[in-house]
Amino acid sequence: MAKNILVTGGAGYIGSHTVLQLLRGGYRTVVVDNLDNSSDVALKRVEELAGEFGNNLSFHQVC
Ligand SMILES: NC(=O)c1ccc[n+]([C@@H]2O[C@H](COP(=O)([O-])OP(=O)(O)OC[C@H]3O[C@@H](n4cnc5c(N)ncnc54)[C@H](O)[C@@H]3O)[C@@H](O)[C@H]2O)c1
Repeated sequence: MAKNILVTGGAGYIGSHTVLQLLRGGYRTVVVDNLDNSSDVALKRVEELAGEFGNNLSFHQVC
């Protein structure tokens, strides 16, 4: 069964590193972030670094 996890602030410094490890651990990871202090570029890099697990990342920007 797929493991799902929600990470708030997942585009930030600690969040993006955490998200990468979760993806590598097999979690389908949902990031919610307002990009107030980060960029979606960070998540693009995380997706690339996660390799075969990158498709398990989804991002939702909130206001
Ligand atoms: N290269 C480095 O060593 C480096 C780089 C950055 C930060 N730091 C350190 O890391 C610590 C901070 O890291 P962090 O990950 O806790 O902070 P962060 O600011 O990097 O991440 C917080 C994330 O939460 C998001 N956010 C904030 N308010 C929100 C809201 N209301 N709704 C949705 N998203 C929201 C921000 O956009 C950001 O992406 C500090 O100690 C800082 O000095 C180190």
